[in-house]
Amino acid sequence: MSQPSNPPEFANELEELRARADSLATQLAQSYKMASIGRLLAGIVHEINTPIGSILSNNQVLYRSLELVKSALANGDKDSLAKANRLVETCLSLIAIDKIACERISDVVRGLKTFARAESSEVRKADLNQQLQDTLKLTQGEFRQRIKVETDWGQIPQVECHGNMLSQVFLNILVNAGQAIQGEGKITVRTRHEGDSVHISIADTGPGIKPEDRPKIFAGGFTTKAVGVGTGLGLALSKKIVEETHGGSLHFESEIGIGTTFHILVPIEQKKKAEG
Ligand SMILES: Nc1ncnc2c1ncn2[C@@H]1O[C@H](COP(=O)(O)OP(=O)(O)O)[C@@H](O)[C@H]1O
Ligand SMILES: [Mg+2]
Repeated sequence: MSQPSNPPEFANELEELRARADSLATQLAQSYKMASIGRLLAGIVHEINTPIGSILSNNQVLYRSLELVKSALANGDKDSLAKANRLVETCLSLIAIDKIACERISDVVRGLKTFARAESSEVRKADLNQQLQDTLKLTQGEFRQRIKVETDWGQIPQVECHGNMLSQVFLNILVNAGQAIQGEGKITVRTRHEGDSVHISIADTGPGIKPEDRPKIFAGGFTTKAVGVGTGLGLALSKKIVEETHGGSLHFESEIGIGTTFHILVPIEQKKKAEG
């Protein structure tokens, strides 16, 4: 290829192309984020609908019970008062169940909020144990019964990070683990404070990654899943977020027939860019 005749102009064009590529990459990451939540949506809807159904039916029972209490109190005789007492006990236990149902709903909504939070360039201190718990709430609908989730929360310090981006990484890796497991299996999430990093490991009892696929899994577009299931972008984006954005490390170990473990290391403090 011949040299461009007008280097400064060429430099401008290059600059423009770079800016466009950057903004496309941002758009791609954003739409991937929405797609991965979208795929979980059926499970999330179920996870919210079940407690809402229970609150609604409890509400009817509460209404009828209180009407009965009202007429028993109006009667005022000994038997009626005893009946009113029993009904009040029933109401109290229904209210306790409603409280649990409301807590389940707000847990799921909190999980969603972690993702909805505006992409900020600002680094904040975050409790990664809490974030992992919130993210697990979103996968619960998808995993239910089929996959047992075991957790081992270490005593970890708060970590300076882009919290929503790391939640995206956790979600990607958890969903991959869930998709890898055929039938029943187990996912183990573990956190540890190691030196100046927090180490998160996510292990599955799936079939493992074939040796010939191992060098490719972080490449954008590599997927072994059916069209519509896999995009091959999850791990490429995750690697970028953990290593380029946070200066951490993302790697895995895998054994055929045993399972796969992903290791995410995130430095506790973010070095200022200027200091290199
Ligand atoms: N836990 C896992 N067990 C087995 N294979 C995995 C696991 N995680 C990722 N992979 C492999 O890596 C590929 C790329 O993953 P990813 O980038 O998330 O894309 P996608 O999930 O859309 O296929 C997957 O298609 C799969 O072959
Ligand atoms: Mg994936």
